Amino acid sequence: MANSALRCKHFIRMVATLPFLLALAFIFFTPATAQRQINITLGASLAPNTTTTNSFWLSPSGAFAFGFYQRGDSYAVGVFLPRTPRKTVVWTANRDYPPVPRNSTLRFTSDGRLVLQSTEAQETFVAIPRESAVSASMLDTGNFVLYNSRRDVIWQTSDVPTDTLLAGQHLSPSQQLCSSASESDQSTGLFRLKMQTDGNLVQENGSQFPTPIATPDTAEHSYWASGTNGVGDNVTLYLDNDGSLYLLNATGTYLKNITASGGPPKEGIIYLLRIDPDGIMRLYLYNATQNADLSKIWSSSENKCIPKGLCGLNGFCAMNDQNLECKCLPGFGYVNPGNWTSGCERNFTADSCMRADAAPRYTIQPVSNTVWEDTAYADLIFSTNEECQKACLQDCNCEAVIYNDQSCKKMRLPLKYGRRDLNNANILSIKVGETGSNGNGANGFMPEGKKRPSRRDILFAIASSTAFALMTLAVSGFVVYRYRVRLYEILPKEGSATMIENISPRSFTYEELKRVTKDFAEEIGRGAFGTVYKGTLLNSLEVVAVKKLEKVSSDVESEFQNEVKIIGRTNHRSLVQLLGYCLDGHDRLLVYKYMSNGSLADLLFTAEKQPCWDEKMGIARNIARGLLYLHEECETQIIHCDIKLQNILIDECRRAKISDFGLSKLMKPDQTNTMTRIRGTKGYVAPEWHKNLPVTVKADVYSFGIVLLEIICCRRSVDWSLPDDEAVLEEWAYSCFQERELEKLVNDESTDGRQLERMVKVALWCILEEPSLRPSMRKVLLMLEGTVDIPIPPCPSSFLSAI
Ligand SMILES: *[C@@H]1O[C@H](CO)[C@@H](O)[C@H](O)[C@H]1NC(C)=O
Ligand SMILES: *[C@@H]1O[C@H](CO)[C@@H](O)[C@H](O)[C@H]1NC(C)=O
Ligand SMILES: *[C@@H]1O[C@H](CO)[C@@H](O)[C@H](O)[C@H]1NC(C)=O
Ligand SMILES: *[C@@H]1O[C@H](CO)[C@@H](O)[C@H](O)[C@H]1NC(C)=O
Ligand SMILES: *[C@@H]1O[C@H](CO)[C@@H](O)[C@H](O)[C@H]1NC(C)=O
Ligand SMILES: *[C@@H]1O[C@H](CO)[C@@H](O)[C@H](O)[C@H]1NC(C)=O
Ligand SMILES: *[C@@H]1O[C@H](CO)[C@@H](O)[C@H](O)[C@H]1NC(C)=O
Ligand SMILES: *[C@@H]1O[C@H](CO)[C@@H](O)[C@H](O)[C@H]1NC(C)=O
Ligand SMILES: *[C@@H]1O[C@H](CO)[C@@H](O)[C@H](O)[C@H]1NC(C)=O
Ligand SMILES: *[C@@H]1O[C@H](CO)[C@@H](O)[C@H](O)[C@H]1NC(C)=O
Repeated sequence: MANSALRCKHFIRMVATLPFLLALAFIFFTPATAQRQINITLGASLAPNTTTTNSFWLSPSGAFAFGFYQRGDSYAVGVFLPRTPRKTVVWTANRDYPPVPRNSTLRFTSDGRLVLQSTEAQETFVAIPRESAVSASMLDTGNFVLYNSRRDVIWQTSDVPTDTLLAGQHLSPSQQLCSSASESDQSTGLFRLKMQTDGNLVQENGSQFPTPIATPDTAEHSYWASGTNGVGDNVTLYLDNDGSLYLLNATGTYLKNITASGGPPKEGIIYLLRIDPDGIMRLYLYNATQNADLSKIWSSSENKCIPKGLCGLNGFCAMNDQNLECKCLPGFGYVNPGNWTSGCERNFTADSCMRADAAPRYTIQPVSNTVWEDTAYADLIFSTNEECQKACLQDCNCEAVIYNDQSCKKMRLPLKYGRRDLNNANILSIKVGETGSNGNGANGFMPEGKKRPSRRDILFAIASSTAFALMTLAVSGFVVYRYRVRLYEILPKEGSATMIENISPRSFTYEELKRVTKDFAEEIGRGAFGTVYKGTLLNSLEVVAVKKLEKVSSDVESEFQNEVKIIGRTNHRSLVQLLGYCLDGHDRLLVYKYMSNGSLADLLFTAEKQPCWDEKMGIARNIARGLLYLHEECETQIIHCDIKLQNILIDECRRAKISDFGLSKLMKPDQTNTMTRIRGTKGYVAPEWHKNLPVTVKADVYSFGIVLLEIICCRRSVDWSLPDDEAVLEEWAYSCFQERELEKLVNDESTDGRQLERMVKVALWCILEEPSLRPSMRKVLLMLEGTVDIPIPPCPSSFLSAI
């Protein structure tokens, strides 16, 4: 059969390289060099830059090395090409961990673990094999492997690629390469190359990382694809040592040849594929017989502006000669002039539609030949760009329009993935605050003055008359909302889904909310920030939870509005959605979607509601996803500061959603007593709160660890009704873990012992005293999803000091 013939050919091609490798090994092997070690045995160790110990182990040919390389002023462990001028790194252990100091040691311990000791107290695992290893080898393929006593490979670097694929290696479905932050910093960068399970090989901005399984593969972030989606299951990317890069399906059929063979494999020639820090995927050739640098033989794109997200938000990428440059739109300045990825922000304060009072004056400025991600909330038809611009000026929700061939797309900020493309006739026009404006007044919506728009375009006429009507009505946010929807209903276009999603929280008056809640009749909860009431929206009959904030600082209104805006912009299925707010005199209220199943505490501690093990794990993953979003994926990083069972709400489908996020900043600061600085709930607060240390996202990781233990064990973190040694859950969990008696933690449940151990290990990592040792939520999620191995957690010494 044709298929098996092809597969066979592929096999022969792989086998044919073996003699070549052996030859290579022979040529380069010089017994005089102590570092060349084909069989690395237990007890061996490495240290960076000392005269007494080697800092790396070489492969027989000397082309590859495993061990310490210099990263900045410190060191990291990885596989690199020692003879290239810049010691090109092809694999890094624990790439997102901080580099280690000069007095660190890498030890292949007598019990078969490969650990990196950076301080007396801290060991990190470099490899986590299935069983204990008895020997190791740095192979001439660039693969570093660990063997068991039967000489089976039990762990290898090629199974856990970082940003490079070496000849002979493959990328299996749902595996990915992630670019490095820069040439000299191998921590995870902005871009990834992912072998999707639908058969498509895709390069995309890494913002969706690390949820390859959980998130749908969306096209909006991708900027290169092999176009092989839907060709079948289990498509794998291969790189051969003749430089050919291709996709094969499970039965060995060639689906796509990405690069052609560079002729038969040659001695000393090594091919490698890397997703570079600039987001472009390149195939390199390394001639190991010369001490030269890599030479590029293919790249996924010649245009350096193609990778999405290079310039951050509201910036666009332009080529200046051969150099890439990120430019800000008119009226914008760099958030961080030294760092283009941080994007651009307005250099004037734009009032939002939430404020009905002072409408600012704007002018509009065009920028030609740029393309952006299409996030239009309305797509209108106008015959000229001027009419399109005018329509934007008259719509207070519109911040930019893109005009091209009669299509006028209204957008809100932020604008994403901008780049100059001289072949594209787009004209982007952006609202810019009018300098030296004196009238802050009534005609703010009509900066171009008295001249009313002509009636020629019906759509335009409707839009502008609505706007005019609104002005005279002394607009309330409520009406603005209706206006937007109505305008849209008249002009239905394909973008309508975006439109609905992007609606920012609407503003309510106190009187309105009084009616919504029937004069705050039904109290459904009381929390750190105030009391929560149930209500029903008057127009949509949607049931809502109205939170009356009590202890918020009533400082500047704009600060409150800012926070609300930030909260309102979050949109994630693991977060409770903010629908509206009220800022009326001293009253500050927030309106949320109502969660009909109460809090996670109700779920865990109500016998008839108690979730089964699988459901519990689903809940834990959802919370982790929500936190990951707050920490890394939403526009402004949000540290929750008060993760606890009561703040995880459960919707009608029993899905967990995080509530109360973004509120901690609104709490009244109290200068008289430093302890009130602690925002959070006893039993959940991380040790750094007590020590006056800076509080980072890792404080949430700590609280998450406690919540995870509570979910696992279905009990509260502190329960003095239990025997003394069980009263504090974290101590009890660690002692059960140490004694290998985890089943004690879950009473009579029929849980899978391995899963239980995994979950407990994750929780124990989260509650380490030292914040930097706690994993990021990204890592936590990977561990919960079972995509990475979990090292043995050290003792969370925090109990010693905290109790
Ligand atoms: C490597 O070392 C181990 C442990 O000393 C030994 O059992 C094994 O046979 C050696 N393998 C080779 C290929 O020398
Ligand atoms: C090793 O350390 C010495 C002194 O600390 C320094 O001068 C030298 O450059 C280092 N060598 C390498 C390869 O890092
Ligand atoms: C390396 O030195 C630092 C301080 O200079 C020390 O804290 C650390 O424990 C040392 N590491 C080892 C492995 O001795
Ligand atoms: C690209 O992804 C990074 C995270 O990897 C994210 O911070 C950035 O905002 C994304 N860029 C854009 C323009 O979305
Ligand atoms: C691989 O592709 C061939 C040709 O398209 C097809 O006949 C075969 O069924 C595919 N195999 C799998 C496992 O999808
Ligand atoms: C794809 O791989 C998965 C896991 O290895 C396997 O369960 C499945 O049967 C494979 N599908 C095909 C069509 O080979
Ligand atoms: C890809 O290359 C292989 C061998 O180099 C060849 O047999 C196959 O037909 C090619 N496939 C496609 C889709 O071009
Ligand atoms: C590799 O380098 C050797 C020695 O300089 C040279 O003879 C050979 O042609 C080079 N091979 C390639 C493919 O460039
Ligand atoms: C804002 O930036 C524009 C350039 O884009 C500049 O002309 C203007 O003076 C700046 N305004 C302020 C207040 O910095
Ligand atoms: C640049 O900014 C981005 C986003 O704000 C950040 O993730 C990254 O670490 C910054 N890079 C440097 C070198 O500061």
